[in-house]
Amino acid sequence: MKVAIDLFGTTFQNPVLLAAGTCGFGRELSDVVDLDALGGFVTKSVTLEPRHGNPAPRVTEFGGGMMNSIGLANPGLARTRTEKLPWIRDNIHRAHVFVSVAGHSVEEFLDLVAGLDDADGFLGFELNLSCPNDTRRGGAPFALDPPLVAEIVSGARARTERPLLAKLAPNDLDVSKTARVAVDAGADGLTLVNTLPGLLLDPGGAPELGAGQGGVSGPALLPIGLRAVSSARAATHVPLVGLGGVGGAADAVAYARAGASLVGIGTASFADPRAGERVARDLRAWRPRSGIASWSDLQPPVPDPEVEALDRPAQTAERRTGEETAAWRR
Ligand SMILES: Cc1cc2nc3c(=O)[nH]c(=O)nc-3n(C[C@H](O)[C@H](O)[C@H](O)COP(=O)(O)O)c2cc1C
Repeated sequence: MKVAIDLFGTTFQNPVLLAAGTCGFGRELSDVVDLDALGGFVTKSVTLEPRHGNPAPRVTEFGGGMMNSIGLANPGLARTRTEKLPWIRDNIHRAHVFVSVAGHSVEEFLDLVAGLDDADGFLGFELNLSCPNDTRRGGAPFALDPPLVAEIVSGARARTERPLLAKLAPNDLDVSKTARVAVDAGADGLTLVNTLPGLLLDPGGAPELGAGQGGVSGPALLPIGLRAVSSARAATHVPLVGLGGVGGAADAVAYARAGASLVGIGTASFADPRAGERVARDLRAWRPRSGIASWSDLQPPVPDPEVEALDRPAQTAERRTGEETAAWRR
């Protein structure tokens, strides 16, 4: 099957990305993984200041996958600019890179986008609106608060012309609405899903993770991610990055069937660091049913933005400026 796909004004040689937080800034994996064989990767989420993250242990396993509470450990904006992005610029040639950013407030998100926008080495931003391990906000992700989603995405949109992805949460019962809010505010694409809040206890009743709760990832997330992608596909026209539980090419194909243009791989890389390359290779070797020649052919039809606009709930319309509202009511 042909696996190259044109998106965001460029060509991805295949649809496989390594997920945010599971491949550092590329360099950490570059001895073991041929990053340029991938469609791309998303960096560890960057915050304004360097962060040491949450207390150990930060990662644990269970039957359905793993749970982590890394707490956004990262080098901060300044070192990302001076060390991480220059390495990516000089060493990554075919894979596309999205820089993930995470703020504790709207302003922090906007300062991160403004502070990184003119650096070299990356294609676009992924706004991590859905981290369940941010203790400063009590684990409440921005993605579950649509007005804040609108504020962050529209503010980021005003600060960059690069492709802008909004990463949404798996525990969003109305993910179609959040998806629409993010797209109306200017997101070029959506990434679904982040980890799901969870808790594992040892036989003595003590949490297995140093921070107590954590984010569930791996196979248990597959049906949850597929549902979120499918709901977002029905509600919006933008490209979707589907992830959660992808372990092999069949899972990636399921995400494409649900509406994803790209797929992310996180937890699977911990057992097999070359899982991304394997999935990309297996997709290329995939023999689809007749009538399907390429990865893009697997995807369901994308809704017409005109029809989508007419169908929009009033609440979304109220958040637009008067001029914009008048335009889509015409
Ligand atoms: C150890 C670990 C660290 C992660 N760090 C981040 C992060 O910094 N930013 C982010 O948006 N998502 C982060 N994630 C979430 C992943 O990007 C992905 O959304 C999630 O793990 C689901 O995909 P998977 O089932 O393939 O792992 C992290 C996940 C893991 C397992």
